Amino acid sequence: MCGIVGYVGSRPAEGVVIEGLRRLEYRGYDSAGIALIDAGTIVSDKRAGKLANLEKAIAESPLPQVTTGIGHTRWATHGAPSDRNAHPHLGRASRVALVHNGIIENFAELRSRLESEGVEMASDTDTEVAAHLLEEQLETGIDLTVAMQNVCRELRGAFTLVAVDAQDPDRVVAARRNSPLVVGIGEGENFLGSDVAAFIEHTREALELDQDQVVTITREGVSVSGFDGTPAEGRRYHVDWDLSAAEKDGHDWFMRKEIFEQPRAVADSLLGRRGADGQLQLDEMRLSDQDLRDVDKIIIIAAGTSFYAGMVAKYAIEHWCRIPVEVELASEFRYRDPILTSDTLVVAISQSGETADTLQAIRHARVQRSKVLAICNTNGSTIPRESDGVIYTHAGPEIGVASTKGFLTQLVACYLLALYLAQIKGTRYGDEISQVMDQLEQMPAHIETVLSKSEEVYALARDHVGSRSVLFLGRHAGYPVALEGALKLKEIAYLHAEGFAAGELKHGPIALVEEGLPILCVVPPRGRDQLHDKMISGIQEVRARGARTLCLAEEGDTAIEPYADVLFTLPQVPVLLQPLVAVVPLQLFACELATQLGHDVDQPRNLAKSVTVE
Ligand code: F6R
Repeated sequence: MCGIVGYVGSRPAEGVVIEGLRRLEYRGYDSAGIALIDAGTIVSDKRAGKLANLEKAIAESPLPQVTTGIGHTRWATHGAPSDRNAHPHLGRASRVALVHNGIIENFAELRSRLESEGVEMASDTDTEVAAHLLEEQLETGIDLTVAMQNVCRELRGAFTLVAVDAQDPDRVVAARRNSPLVVGIGEGENFLGSDVAAFIEHTREALELDQDQVVTITREGVSVSGFDGTPAEGRRYHVDWDLSAAEKDGHDWFMRKEIFEQPRAVADSLLGRRGADGQLQLDEMRLSDQDLRDVDKIIIIAAGTSFYAGMVAKYAIEHWCRIPVEVELASEFRYRDPILTSDTLVVAISQSGETADTLQAIRHARVQRSKVLAICNTNGSTIPRESDGVIYTHAGPEIGVASTKGFLTQLVACYLLALYLAQIKGTRYGDEISQVMDQLEQMPAHIETVLSKSEEVYALARDHVGSRSVLFLGRHAGYPVALEGALKLKEIAYLHAEGFAAGELKHGPIALVEEGLPILCVVPPRGRDQLHDKMISGIQEVRARGARTLCLAEEGDTAIEPYADVLFTLPQVPVLLQPLVAVVPLQLFACELATQLGHDVDQPRNLAKSVTVE
């Protein structure tokens, strides 16, 4: 949440910063701003609303073509999304310009101290205090790097700060605590960004920082230190995605492009998981087999869509491994005093790897000596770095705020984890594990089949443009799919939508059903248990009360036909793997409905891609 860019080099900084902000805009779009250093003064412009507003203002009143600058795109926390609260914030002598991502928890006490010294605040933000504090420090004659170290030691909370000093035009200084920041290493130029998308157009060489570090970039180089000034080293890495991965490829929305990338994302996440002996291998995981053999309970923590992936994981792990699994919302976890031991495995699922609720939850788990395994899509992000082990998903960058390919690849990682635990605990035979792996490897083709029928789903979405409410029903692994379908519709179409476990309907929610209410039903595959038949009974019940039933059911399921007002067929797959195909039409449905309603699908209101505040 909030995107941050910094640049020093030889190109016009305005272009680099604005382009970087464009790629980071998914992180927040309440306002955008830029500050450049021009002949010993700060030149800044900032505007409420999307980046386009800032660009328009700059077009009308051009900025100087200088080569050092910082920029910000905001997801508001303290202070309304207005011009006045937009970043950058300046110190009182306009010597310092500063942008911030996070929350400075002790800002109120710092603010009253500054006000008692005669500083007049120009905004309602927590950020502005840091600009004044930096300027106070600079006035004592030290440089911006040391000033940043000193200020950071005074701040509490989570922050990435990036600042420039008008009197030191070739230096940009940044700091991070519990909030993302990466350095891009160029030739005669260097970059800062909340993530690599900010500078990937210019360099794919990056430097990852630890917590509580300050980094200084100049044209010639990069230096890192702790908040106490101790020199430190970042970890260099090569970014293996390119610019085209961060662009729309002819689609109207990143979200739609990302839905269509799912066959590839799933295939990539499965790649290289089987050794020459046919055994499943999760080399990158870093946890020893003995550690995993000792696990007697698993707690999955996550938020939003990632939480629903965790719900599917519970079905898979308990079924294949016979280990009890709890799934917990990250924001609730540490406040209920959970029972954790060194034999509890905590699995944190996070696409971004930066979600503050999930990060705080894993810190709590580690203090209680539990092992933490992250499932994450963002290399080098905070959650995997603070975990004992990690399974990376290989979805590539997910830009659309609503998660799609992130979710599917999280499901794949959960299945892999479950099968691996089954293999090392011996709860399933190798043949059975191989058979499931074979089925997983067929999933990209099945997802492709679903995508080839996207027009069917779009027509359905167009029929529901006037709907005020949509319900979603599922059972077993289809229940989290129903919840995810409803979440997608809420977040991008701003429609009232609820997901229910179909069996629960008769215990209350059936009272919502009225003539014509659309209900999307995820029908489990026909199998030996009675899941499928029970689902059909639930569908009959709502249909009898006037609901319009839109059913997703496997090919050849004729039993559903009499009860489906609309039938969309899914490929035949096992019930535990069905979420991988069943969620795809629900994503397409939400994407098309939101498009028809004229919403900004990639940047829905009030949301941000990575929620780095609790
Ligand atoms: C919904 C969505 C959010 C995220 C949630 C957790 O489409 O994207 O619900 O799933 O904010 O984010 P991560 O997975 O980055 O921890």
